[in-house]
Amino acid sequence: MNNIPNNSILVVDDVPINIKILLEILTQAGYRVSVAKNGKSALEKVEEAIPNLILLDVMMPVMDGFETCRILKANPKTKDIPIIFMTALSEPINKVKGLQLGAVDYITKPIEHEEVLARINVHLELRRTQLKLAQEEKMSSLGQLVAGIAHEINNPVNFISGNLIHAEKYIEDLLKLLELYETHTNISIPEIKTFSKKIEIDFLKQDLPQLLSSMKKGSERVEQIVRSLRLFSRLDDTECQLVDLHEGIDSTLVILSSRIKATSARPAIDIVKEYGDLPLIECYAGKINQVLMNLLANAIDAIDEAIEKLESNGSEQSPTIWISTTVTSDQKSVLIEIADNGIGMSADVQQRMFEQFFTTKPLGKGTGLGLAIAREIIVEKHGGSLQVNASPGKGAKFAIAIPIRQKDY
Ligand SMILES: Nc1ncnc2c1ncn2[C@@H]1O[C@H](COP(=O)(O)OP(=O)(O)OP(=O)(O)O)[C@@H](O)[C@H]1O
Ligand SMILES: [Mg+2]
Repeated sequence: MNNIPNNSILVVDDVPINIKILLEILTQAGYRVSVAKNGKSALEKVEEAIPNLILLDVMMPVMDGFETCRILKANPKTKDIPIIFMTALSEPINKVKGLQLGAVDYITKPIEHEEVLARINVHLELRRTQLKLAQEEKMSSLGQLVAGIAHEINNPVNFISGNLIHAEKYIEDLLKLLELYETHTNISIPEIKTFSKKIEIDFLKQDLPQLLSSMKKGSERVEQIVRSLRLFSRLDDTECQLVDLHEGIDSTLVILSSRIKATSARPAIDIVKEYGDLPLIECYAGKINQVLMNLLANAIDAIDEAIEKLESNGSEQSPTIWISTTVTSDQKSVLIEIADNGIGMSADVQQRMFEQFFTTKPLGKGTGLGLAIAREIIVEKHGGSLQVNASPGKGAKFAIAIPIRQKDY
């Protein structure tokens, strides 16, 4: 897997020699370059695949650079693509017009190699940072929200669970007392008889303990959810600590539970867990949760996409996510595998999925940062590895290896 950001740049210019020069500079620098000869065909190209940045000539036939920029900026799908104008016109008014239309920068022709590369790098880096911050902000506000809710629910649920223990004891005592009355007093008072019949005392005696036990189960479940929410919300942990990874997985599943439930399009997703006997892992808990969240959310998306596709070709499958954990044979790492029977991936997607911004999802759904961040957290931050195994239509399986002790790697 290569680590170089394999960014794509769209060059829009009508002069063949300019195109040739830019193509050479940019491909040599490792960018994937596509070319459009005027504004109109640039818009068509962008429609096909969103580039990471656009180099846009001002003076072009059919549709000039300003008009193209205006249209790109007006479309929510394309408005965030950084645009750099290329202008041979040195009048400042043109440069200002470009910037006013939303371009991030301009370069003047004739093109200087170093300058064009430097400016492109700056703007790609800015955009990357911006998106990364947005993702972190999203995770951190989710963490705060979750922590807040957990805190609010915690008190009332403690009232219930704390009092249920006493309620159970009192009811047991009262039933015992009733029994004693029944055995030791042999009077049949009509009023008592009628009332006993009315309240169906025999059924009540039988049902009351069961009712209490389901109340207890319910409150235990809420307590468990609160615990999961609290665990999940440790997003801001800056210290490496010993963590039970299963707790991380389970709490992430709780957060995602509304997405796992049945929808109008599909039944609930089966979560099949095969947890091995894991030691506590030395890691950044919040970050690992972020990885689990990204991988599990991707698996759910892939399943939803597969279901959408199936509707047209009619075959059946029951949506499932398999999660397994083991210690590796050298006893140095743990392996978490997350597999789904979703849409799967083509070789091309597999090759590019860890790139920043790479997404196959519609606008507003994916930013294409989930896996790039997951990889950074696992590989860079923890010295582990993140691998994938998938084929189209056959689902995908991600394998995360994390060293048990950080000093070991
Ligand atoms: N489990 C999966 N099954 C099929 N395709 C997947 C799976 N996980 C990731 N992909 C592919 O890899 C791409 C990149 O994933 P990534 O998580 O980085 O971004 P994203 O999910 O599109 O957006 P986001 O930034 O919101 O996570 C996805 O758009 C999808 O095409
Ligand atoms: Mg994702």
